[in-house]
Formats: sequence, structure tokens, C-alpha cells
Amino acid sequence: MELTVTSLIVPLGIVLFALWRWLRAPSNRKYYKNVSGPPTLPLIGNALYFSSTSEILDRMMKCIKDYGGIFKMEIGPIQKTIVVADYKIVECMLSSTKELTKSEGYAFAIPWLGTGLLTGDGPKWKKHRRMLTPAFHFKILEQFIDVFESCGNTLLKKLEQEVGKDSFDVYPFITLCALDVICETTMGISINAQDDVTSEYVHSVKEMCRIIMERALSPIQMFDLPYFFTKNYRIQRKALRILHEKSNSVIKHKREELEKKPKEVIEEEAFTIKKKKAFIDLILEATVDGRPLTQEEIRQEVDTFMFAGHDTTASAMSFAIYCLANHPDVQKIAFEEQQAIFEGNRTPTYADLQNMKYLEKVIKESLRLYPSVPIYGRKAIEDIQCGDLIVPKGDTVLIFSYGVHRDPKYFVDPEKFDPNRFDNIDGKFPYSYIPFSAGPRNCIGQKFAMLEMKSVISKILRTFELQPAVPQHTLKLVSETVLKSLNGIKIRLKLRS
Ligand code: HEM
Repeated sequence: MELTVTSLIVPLGIVLFALWRWLRAPSNRKYYKNVSGPPTLPLIGNALYFSSTSEILDRMMKCIKDYGGIFKMEIGPIQKTIVVADYKIVECMLSSTKELTKSEGYAFAIPWLGTGLLTGDGPKWKKHRRMLTPAFHFKILEQFIDVFESCGNTLLKKLEQEVGKDSFDVYPFITLCALDVICETTMGISINAQDDVTSEYVHSVKEMCRIIMERALSPIQMFDLPYFFTKNYRIQRKALRILHEKSNSVIKHKREELEKKPKEVIEEEAFTIKKKKAFIDLILEATVDGRPLTQEEIRQEVDTFMFAGHDTTASAMSFAIYCLANHPDVQKIAFEEQQAIFEGNRTPTYADLQNMKYLEKVIKESLRLYPSVPIYGRKAIEDIQCGDLIVPKGDTVLIFSYGVHRDPKYFVDPEKFDPNRFDNIDGKFPYSYIPFSAGPRNCIGQKFAMLEMKSVISKILRTFELQPAVPQHTLKLVSETVLKSLNGIKIRLKLRS
């Protein structure tokens, strides 16, 4: 009986709630007179059309074909989202400093990340961005090469076990490696994700990434009230307990270590590279408005790096490896470059990594076709005019980088994998290539990511010949928090002699 009451009341409550939001939603039809979009249903809008993460990219590409580089998309009972893949509007949105904040989708990450750099805005974001920028100075990044090297060595050992198989999914191996890298560089601890696959911490990271995306696309879970009744909410509570406990205990431990140090030594070492440091050490030593950051502020930034810095690089590395495996001509040139740089098997220097010019083009081209963050959102906090388009206050704009990168106006034969196309890109259209976003809210970790990706892929290239999977593998792209492939990213490996 109790079950029947609950099973009636909850759906009824959800429908009434949706109706209430729908009736209250301001009409923005007058603003979007000239913007088309797929047909909508009452209350749920286009939620069914865009509900499947595995189809959203294809459907958005179809919308670009049918309606152009700007189209309307309505998820749930409120009319409020437009999707943009048009150069001028992307430029206008991303270069704006004032009128935009992150879209509502990011709110689903707040229980984990608080208002760290990715999710925060306003004066706090500005101060923290300024405070964190020196942490990505090349002198600091240079010290992480050892971490890339040791995590990469563990990865090679794991991959060796896959040699000779006709086909295997490289993505889970790369993800765990990326998680080891980000944990060690951010928190200065090793979680051995590659060796301890049952780790609660690793599992919790994965669950939170999944839940954040599911909530963004679900017309029911996007609202807190119905979400509190879902299984995901129960999983989230457990995952957050594990994640926050871990970062809080590392911060506490590091703080105690720091407190034991004489003040003069702390001041002398602050934001310098006299001693090897993780991001957390730099954040602990930093000050904002003349005061050190609180435990909670540090936790938010540490968790933000953990979230923003591992799945993105894992996705990018896996797709780059897939592209190399399926383009032997490109792989040959990339391998010859490695041979020219390395004699024997030594650790690369920062200069070596800078010299991997062709590998850099391979990674860039792979990020063009497979941007780790294929969609990112902004919310207008006041009416914004971009050319003829006015985005009213409160509406969401989704920047569709996946679509921008496939615009034939900027990329000839856009579906073709051609690293050399970057030789001819003259920087006249900086907003046509935006895997790391652009403008004031661009990716702070871009240089770190490029170094990590070059280090790891260079190791793989020098050790294995990458081959296409047998039978040939066709990716089924899926836009979760980051770009993935539903059926894995399969390749074949052969040991180089
Ligand atoms: C291939 C790897 C990566 C890609 C493709 C990537 C992409 C992006 C994109 C598109 C954004 C903008 C998101 C938005 O506007 O909402 C972003 C922001 C950000 N990324 Fe990355 N990222 C990568 C690696 C990293 C790494 C390794 C770190 C940290 C170590 C990092 C930390 C951040 C942070 C903190 C932000 C927010 C910056 C701000 O708003 O001020 N990312 N990233």
C-alpha cells in the first residue's frame, strides 16, 4: 500500500512541478523569431529528441544542417536554450567578460566542486584565476614530467598484456593512467588507480562524472526536488563522502606539514620551484586578498582539478591513439619524429616535448574531430546582443565545439583526419578551433594537458606499433561530461622490435 501511494504521489508531484515551471516560464519567443529548431512537445520540449547521450551529437549536427549554426533547443518545461556553432556568435559569447556566467548544467557539479574555478564566477573566480595562473608556469609544469613518466611506465606494462589481441578497448587503461597523473600532480599522492581498479575513490570519481551529465540531460533529474528521490542521489551522497574525505584529509596532512616549517622558509619557497611541489602545495602557500585560502576553498580547487583534469585528457589521448592506429601514414611520420628525438629509451626533457611538433599537430587534429568537451554552456545574466541575435537574461547558450570544428568554412574536408591542416591555419579565426575554449574562461590546464598527452603518447608510440582493430572498429560517439565512445575505443597493438 505504502509503495502504491509513493509510486503515485512521486510521478504526480513531478508532473505538477513541471506544469508549474512551464506556466511560470517567461516567453522568449519574441527574441528567437529568426531562430528555428526541432519541433517541441508541451512540458518536455525537445527532451525526448535530445535525451540520448549517444545520439545528441548526430542530432545537433542534423539541426545545424536543417536550421543553421544557431538553433533552439528546449529541455523540460522552460524555453531557454539556444545552441551555437556559428563563428561570429561563438566569438561574441566566449570573448565576453561581463554578461555571461556558466550555464545551469554546471550546477550539477557544485555538490562536488563547490564554486571552484570551473563552476564559480564573479570576483571570487577572478581572484582565484589570478592566484592559480602561476601554478601553470612552465618551470612548474616541467617538474611533472617525472610523474607523466612513471604513470606512463605503469601504463606500458598494462598495455603489454594486450599485445597480440585482435582488438581491445584502450580507453579504460588511459583513463586510469590519467587519474594517477592528476592525483599525483594535484594532491601529491599516489592512488595507484592503474593497479587498484577496485578503488572506492576511482569508482566515486566515475560515478560523479556520470551523474553530472545524466542530470544535465534529464528533464526530471535536472530539478533538485525530484532528483532527491532518485537512486543517483543516493549514489551521489556516498560518492561525495568518499571524494571530500580524501581531499580534506590530504589538505589537512599537507597543512600540518606546512605548519611545521619556519615562516621564512615558507615565504622563500612560495610559488617557486626550489622543491618539487604538487598543485595543492602551491595553493596552500598562496594568498588571496592577503590571506591564505580556507580549507573549503582549497578543497574546491583541488576537486576542480581532479574533475577537469583527468577525463578530458583521457578522452583526448584515447582518440589520438585511435587516429594514429587508423592512419598508418600519419603514425609513420609521428614515429620517425620520435626516433629523431630519442636515441635509446630515456626520459624526455621539457625541450624534447616542445620539439614534438608533428605529434602536437596529431593531438590538435584529433581534438578537432573529437573535442573532449564537445558542448559547453553559458548563461546570460543580462540581455546579450551578438549581431542580430539577442539572448535574453536567464537563457542558456550552448557552445557546440564539435559542430564548430566541422564547419567547412574553416576546415576544408572537415571529416578528414589531416594533422598538416594546422600548417595552413593562420590564426585569423581563433574561435573556429576551441577544444580548450577561448577568451577569459579558457582552460587553465591547457599547457599541462598538452605536456601530459605528448609524454604518454610518445611512450606508447616508441613501444608499440598501433594498428586498427580486427574487425575494423567504428566509434559510437557519446557526449557524456566529456566525449567518449559507447562501444569503446578499440585498437590492436604490436610490440616494436
Ligand atoms: C585535453 C585536455 C583538456 C581539455 C580538452 C580541456 C578543455 C576545457 C574546456 C573546453 C574548458 C572550458 C569549459 C567551460 O567553459 O565551461 C576548460 C576549463 C577548465 N579546465 Fe580544462 N581541459 C583539459 C585539461 C585540463 C587539465 C589537465 C586541467 C587541470 C590540471 C584543467 C582544468 C580546467 C579548469 C580549472 C577549467 C576552468 C577554468 C576557468 O573557468 O577559469 N583542464 N577545459
